[in-house]
Amino acid sequence: IPVDPFDLVIFGGTGDLARRKILPALFRRFCAGQMGTDARVVGAARTEMDSAAYREFAREAITEFDDNEECAAESLDGFLEQLSYITLDARGDTGWQAMKAAMRDGPIQAFYFSVGPGLFGDLAERLHAYEIAGPDSRIVVEKPFGRDLASAQALNKGLAKHFDESQIYRIDHYLGKETVQNLMAIRFGNTLFEPLWNAQYVDHIQITVAESVGVGTRGGYYDKSGAMRDMMQNHLMQLLCLIAMEPPAKFDPAAVRDEKLKVIRALEPVDAEDVVRGQYEGTGELPGYRNQVENRDTRTESFVALKARIGNWRWAGTPFYIRTGKRLRARASEIAVVFKDAPHSIFGADAGRHRNILTIRLQPNEGIELGVTIKEPGPGGMRLVDVPLDMSFAEALGPDSADFPDAYERLIMDVVRGDQTLFMRGDEVEAAWAWVDPIIDAWQEVESDPILYASGSSGPDDALRLMHKDGRRWREIKP
Ligand code: BG6
Repeated sequence: IPVDPFDLVIFGGTGDLARRKILPALFRRFCAGQMGTDARVVGAARTEMDSAAYREFAREAITEFDDNEECAAESLDGFLEQLSYITLDARGDTGWQAMKAAMRDGPIQAFYFSVGPGLFGDLAERLHAYEIAGPDSRIVVEKPFGRDLASAQALNKGLAKHFDESQIYRIDHYLGKETVQNLMAIRFGNTLFEPLWNAQYVDHIQITVAESVGVGTRGGYYDKSGAMRDMMQNHLMQLLCLIAMEPPAKFDPAAVRDEKLKVIRALEPVDAEDVVRGQYEGTGELPGYRNQVENRDTRTESFVALKARIGNWRWAGTPFYIRTGKRLRARASEIAVVFKDAPHSIFGADAGRHRNILTIRLQPNEGIELGVTIKEPGPGGMRLVDVPLDMSFAEALGPDSADFPDAYERLIMDVVRGDQTLFMRGDEVEAAWAWVDPIIDAWQEVESDPILYASGSSGPDDALRLMHKDGRRWREIKP
């Protein structure tokens, strides 16, 4: 369904995110007929260039990062015609009058802050001072939303001076992923799972977001963040919320975000012995983390694993084991709900131990798998075996369905549609920092180094022990 006409300004329009994600995502929506020919996209940044040069910049970015072959070259020309550029100084006066002149009366106005959080306040201030943004304008802000609770509160305050919460779209691109939204469909669209979805039936839940890549050229940013701030505080906590929250009364922004917030607020503080942080070592040709960042003595973690506990009726006693890291064995993200053993085995001790596991694979090979126990065929008596009831979304829905839209396509269109359901509310972000801060503070206090792990491994052995000591184990990270 086509969206209404819009004017979208991309602050940081020449930056990496614009190049890799925002411009290709807009182009794809254009190709799909969702973004009409009456939409305008305005790149804005400090770099001096004219609109023709910006269109060339966008052409190159899209050619490099859009892998949708169905979109014809002539569509690209059409799309580029809707782009323009303004040279602008976020902290000065240059460009702001030109921006005011470029905005039309009538279409939806959205301002995408694809810049570091240090500029959020300046941009908000000037959009207001130059009377560019009005009460119906929307602003989109990227992560990192601060680096701790205090800075996140300051950012929220800065934005709130000129924008109402209903105008602020805080992006966590994990919420735009098809399979992440599917978590909610699976939980709340079926009656099968929900009655079992609690501490009485669930032994534990594992969440893994494993990346095979290292920090690459992002060392400058990453070394100031680490896995805890870069992934855990946002993407993994969002997954945790969706898997653990109570059913919202409606699929709408207030209801969904209220329930997510309740999960975060119910998280218990994490014990120091329940957190493991690691840093990858080089292997063969691959450089180690310390060789990819400026500070050779850095203590920043590229891996973190922890045991979280949610202190509420549904989850008391069911641990959530969560891990994420770079340069691991494979790019593999999944959530596994491990159910308890059957309360009584009628088949005797020889039948062994069997459990149902529901696995939701987020990427790659998106799908769900339910491990069920059946009788091993043959005359040898009642021998049990676990087999997967496996459903790949691509197999079930046809190959086209595997061509998922990128998270940014969905989220940018949601901004235009005015739907905040898949965006983080200010209180949610603050609550997440309030849980994460003490963990990071504790690391700083002890002044210890992260544990080294080999590139291509499953992370430090201590992460395995985190579960072993509870008599459990991680599922294998495999491609
Ligand atoms: C980003 C992090 O938010 O998410 C990156 O800053 C990380 O460090 C990326 O690589 C992972 O996203 P995806 O979509 O590739 O799983």
